[in-house]
Amino acid sequence: MKHLIAPSLLAADFTRLPEEVKMVNDSQADWLHLDVMDGRFVPNITFGMFIIEAIKKLSSKPLDVHLMIVEPEKYVEDIRKAGADVITVHYEACTHLHRVIQQIKETGAKAGVALNPHTPAAVLEEVLEDIDLILVMSVNPGFGGQKFIYNTIPKIRRLKDMLTVRNAHALIEVDGGVGLQNAETLLQAGANVLVAGSSVFKSPDPTDTIRRLKEIGAELKKFV
Ligand code: DX5
Ligand code: ZN
Repeated sequence: MKHLIAPSLLAADFTRLPEEVKMVNDSQADWLHLDVMDGRFVPNITFGMFIIEAIKKLSSKPLDVHLMIVEPEKYVEDIRKAGADVITVHYEACTHLHRVIQQIKETGAKAGVALNPHTPAAVLEEVLEDIDLILVMSVNPGFGGQKFIYNTIPKIRRLKDMLTVRNAHALIEVDGGVGLQNAETLLQAGANVLVAGSSVFKSPDPTDTIRRLKEIGAELKKFV
């Protein structure tokens, strides 16, 4: 499977929101990544259902919603109603993770689980077959534009091996500090979805940056 690109709207210019979403619509991006923060799970606050609903009206791409909130089970149904196609909760925010995964799937959305940089891959062992996506945080969640944390790479490899052994099919998504400089390494390690905020929206030509991120694997294959 060709990898997916999910630009993170957090780095966009919100005074030009319709234009920024249209840029993503017209690009080779696969998903639009939306970061919901509550000021409790992470030290920052972004937006919730109301804004997701507005973005849903503008976006032609599936909405990949990353919940960085405590007690996500309280909001899963509303986030789905607002238009989320993929709903990812943090392992660290869920006492009853298995239950929350089932809850997401019952809404009809794809279910993802995110791991903070310090959280070992092994904690997902017992739910690997239940989830559609594993989000590997490669920065500490809360802000865009941070430096990529390198222990993410062996962690992606470990997750990939765990999935292979179990013949499970969850996608591995990487989020934080991802751009043209490390995309190839991440894909080789086993990543399937690249989230890119600053590296897309702060680049001189965001559409072209998305195209280049999307074509990385293809360029590799040309020379094989
Ligand atoms: C961080 C968010 C990311 C963020 C990534 O907590 O989960 O999605 O937007 O931003 P960059 O790509 O700038 O590191
Ligand atoms: Zn995110």
